[in-house]
Amino acid sequence: MKTQTILDSIDELPRIQLARKNTPFEEMPRLRAAIAESMDADVDAVPHIFIKRDDATGFAFGGNKARHMEFLFAHLIERGFDTVVNINHYHSNQARFVAASCAKMDMKCHMVAVDMVDAPVIGNLLIGHLTGAEIHRIPGEYSREVAEKLVADENDAGRNATILSDNDFSDIAGMIGFVETGSEIDAQTSEAGVGDIPIRMWGLVGRSIAGLRLYARNTGKDWSASATAYSHTQPDSYEAVYIDRSTRVAELLGLDTALEPGDLDTITGYHGDDYGIPTEGVFEAIHLVAKTEGIILDPNYTGKSMSALIGEIRAGNLDPDVPVVFVHSGGLPQTFAFADQLWNWQPN
Ligand SMILES: Cc1ncc(COP(=O)(O)O)c(C=O)c1O
Repeated sequence: MKTQTILDSIDELPRIQLARKNTPFEEMPRLRAAIAESMDADVDAVPHIFIKRDDATGFAFGGNKARHMEFLFAHLIERGFDTVVNINHYHSNQARFVAASCAKMDMKCHMVAVDMVDAPVIGNLLIGHLTGAEIHRIPGEYSREVAEKLVADENDAGRNATILSDNDFSDIAGMIGFVETGSEIDAQTSEAGVGDIPIRMWGLVGRSIAGLRLYARNTGKDWSASATAYSHTQPDSYEAVYIDRSTRVAELLGLDTALEPGDLDTITGYHGDDYGIPTEGVFEAIHLVAKTEGIILDPNYTGKSMSALIGEIRAGNLDPDVPVVFVHSGGLPQTFAFADQLWNWQPN
């Protein structure tokens, strides 16, 4: 189906304006050369690597979720909510965007931050505070109870509150945003002269990479999609979840097809001990990309995904003739939560 038909359907959805879209698309030749050098190989042994700079969406420090929130908040406002209770991890970028979107839409926000309750207030929690969220740091086992009490108290006080994860639409808003991002990458790859050949999209397990694959499946682009697992609990259930969610997006947008088994290649083995715990490879990837291209990655998400890309290239698992588009989905405020480890890291 035609890109314009998809964009027209997206245009019909309720939406608020938060993100700076059509984010930059750049090639990373110095990174490519450095990877080749580290393998003692010719540069042609390494695919061309492009980067989609969704760290540059602008709103609330940037990141892919500015796109997600445009649809999600329009949906919440349409339903009359004026208060959002969000249950989130210490490192959560989503929480930052929820808090900032509430600020922008004159809504009240409660962040129920469920772990690492004694860790310093920096990064996303700090931005949550700056954007006016009330922050409740409590152990995970009480999170639901506390969130329900906050909703009840707010409703008793005459507001209309909701726990964000109780809204099914929050599962698919991000995928819709990234179907649209697919159209940006489509134009940008053509402009870069790689529009008519197979390309590999490279990101993280989540709604964004699924949205790009869904765009490609519906427009006939020859894009494969590699999704790096960033926690040991993800891979098994990932495909089933995203087939289901893409079916809902396809129905909503009137797409020809949803995702099918095998559409997303899940890359495991790079998540380390768990979510929020960077590996040696993550530190290497962050240093290498910063030193070669002046681009900063984060230790929880994009650093893991880049360590997987470098690892798979070095293992000879990627066809050098298939260019890679690395999706920089943001996450930068949490880089500073790992300042000591990043400062002290030395290459082996
Ligand atoms: C920076 C960043 N990238 C990627 C992801 C993966 O999920 P999604 O594609 O659904 O945003 C997340 C999820 O929290 C994230 O914070």
